[in-house]
Amino acid sequence: MSLIKFLDIKTLGDERGHLIALENNRGVPFSIKRVYYLTDTQAGVPRGFHAHKELVQVAVCVSGRCLMKMDDGLTTAEVWLDAPDKAIVIDKMIWHEMHEFSADCVLLVLASDFYDEQDYIRNYDAFLELTKHA
Ligand code: TYD
Repeated sequence: MSLIKFLDIKTLGDERGHLIALENNRGVPFSIKRVYYLTDTQAGVPRGFHAHKELVQVAVCVSGRCLMKMDDGLTTAEVWLDAPDKAIVIDKMIWHEMHEFSADCVLLVLASDFYDEQDYIRNYDAFLELTKHA
């Protein structure tokens, strides 16, 4: 199974500009319970560095770009999120890191559940250990 899964997004553009709609359980593979976004991420500051036990997310740079690095414990992959129609699925138990944020980056994230610190795995060795027993 590929680590990199993009949503199949239609850009509804006309002469006025672009419009992209994301809908529960249609393009987005879950019911959205939470939306958050990262802005003003400082130059050279990476974020993420965790996996989730159950949470599934979709991430898209609606402005600017960042480099998404993903790791399932066996393989790693990285991909630039650099367009508003490149929305990537961050599945549960995927270690993910975001690097090289552009100054204008707005990273929008749709999440399948409310914020819950108990769902985070923030230690990489603990993550690797859990993937071995999955
Ligand atoms: P964190 O998940 O560490 O950010 P990132 O992975 O993007 O580097 O979150 C930063 C802080 O914000 C942390 O104290 C938890 C809090 N937080 C919430 O309260 N609600 C949320 O929905 C998210 C994503 C984070």
